[in-house]
Order: sequence, then C-alpha cells, then structure tokens
Amino acid sequence: MELIMANKDWNPELYLKYHNERTQPSIDLISRINFSNPRNIIDIGCGPGNSTQILVDRWPKSKIVGIDNSPAMIQKAKNDFPEQEWKIMDANNIDIDEQFDIVFSNATIQWLPNHEILLKKLKKLVSEQGLLAVQLPLFWDMPLGKSISQISRNEHWKTFTSEVSELFTIHNSSFYYDQLSKLFSSVEIWETDYIHILDSQLSILAMIRSTGLKPFLEKLENDYDKISFESEVFNTIRKEYPFQKNGKVLFPFKRLFFIAGN
Ligand SMILES: C[S@@+](CC[C@H](N)C(=O)[O-])C[C@H]1O[C@@H](n2cnc3c(N)ncnc32)[C@H](O)[C@@H]1O
Repeated sequence: MELIMANKDWNPELYLKYHNERTQPSIDLISRINFSNPRNIIDIGCGPGNSTQILVDRWPKSKIVGIDNSPAMIQKAKNDFPEQEWKIMDANNIDIDEQFDIVFSNATIQWLPNHEILLKKLKKLVSEQGLLAVQLPLFWDMPLGKSISQISRNEHWKTFTSEVSELFTIHNSSFYYDQLSKLFSSVEIWETDYIHILDSQLSILAMIRSTGLKPFLEKLENDYDKISFESEVFNTIRKEYPFQKNGKVLFPFKRLFFIAGN
C-alpha cells in the first residue's frame, strides 16, 4: 500500500489531487448566494485557493482575501494566484479590522472548536447588508467516518488516537439552525450527498489521507503503525464501498451547507 508520510502541515499537492471533488461544494454554495456586487469577501480556511478562485470567478470586481493557518497551503495559493491577497491567520482569532459583505468558508469549520462561540465571532465579521456562507462535511454520518472513529478507539490504537475524533466539531442542521436564527434574520440550510465516482478503493484512501485521516496518522509514531492503521481503515473501505460493474467505486460524501443573512 502506498504510504505518503503525514506531516503536521497540510500537503497542497495531495489535497488538490481531488480538486474537482473538493471544489464542487464551493461552486454549489456560491451558486446559491444572492448578492450582486459584494464590496469585499473573506474566504476562511482558503487552503490552496481553490475555493477562493470560485469566488473570484463569480465576483471579479470584489476585494477578496483568503486566510488559512497552514503556511504550505498559503504558499501554494500565493504561487498559483499571485495577484490575489492571502494571509496566514488562525480562523479562531481573525485579526482583521473590517467587516465583509460575504464571509465564506468551505470545508474548514469542522477543524475549529466550539461552534456556538465561533458563529458569534463570524457574525461580527459580517457587514450590515452581508451574509455568512458555510459548508462542512458530515464525516461522522458516513460509514467511513464512523469506522475511523471506532478504529481509533480500539485496544490497539487507543493510547495514541482515542481523542483525535474530538478535534473535529460537527453538528447537525438543527444545531446550526438554532444558533444562526438567534444571530441572523434569514437562514437557509441544506445537505447534499455527493456521490464521488472514483477509480478504485485505494482512491478513497488517497482522498481522505490528506484530510479526515490526517490527524489520526499524525498521532502514530512510525511508518509501520501508520500503514497498519491505514490497513484497518482500508478493510472498511473494501466492505462499504464495493466495485461497480465497470470497475469504478462510488464514494458517497455528505455535506451540510448554510447561508445566513443580516
Ligand atoms: C479541507 S481544507 C479546505 C480548503 C478550501 N477551502 C477548499 O474548499 O477546498 C481545510 C483548510 O482549513 C484550514 N484550517 C484548519 N484549521 C484552521 C484554523 N484554525 N485557521 C485557519 N485555517 C484553518 C487548513 O489549513 C486547510 O487549508
């Protein structure tokens, strides 16, 4: 089994191997934003700039900034889109003295703790006429997510990985609706189950190795353990995501979206 060492920082090249699958939710979220000329936009957890570019395509005249706390991701964004504005910044403490017409975040807030407080902080960034638009993966609702969490707590791994699942904060639509409706005058929420069509079961592993699986692998001390942990995850993939008649593999991936406006 191919093993690419999990570094603490993100690996933009690995992440972008599944560019289309990762960017489609931004395209879908942006297509539902009803705002003709936003003055300014912030992309929180912009990664290598793939989500930001969809914002730029839709609103080329707006002032757009991408922030992320990963130096590797920001460097990749700078290299690929040098004309854009990028900042290394922790989304838990956004140090920008400005309000935005669109506060956007795709596939990032699951890495941030305490969403009741986070949503209040994000609301403060939204201008009087502005809105907040967010997508996050419902990882624990998927057979793969459930299984990774279970594996991380089994006898063999629990010393290293039992608490990793708690690094992710993911609530259901009922939670987000209750929080958002206290803060904003309009709220839209929806879920989409993307059915990714992948070349093999190994592609599923490759797709999550640079995201959902990353913090678990980082807790393991050596390559042997990382490969063993991945093998257990791969057993689930083999069981839950069988080959189609033409040899492809379907990987259903649930995501939750919301748009909340002042
Ligand atoms: C799955 S990627 C999403 C990238 C891009 N927005 C997209 O749509 O594909 C998640 C990003 O969140 C960033 N991130 C995680 N925790 C963060 C934090 N505390 N502050 C800023 N960025 C963070 C990671 O560095 C990573 O680039």
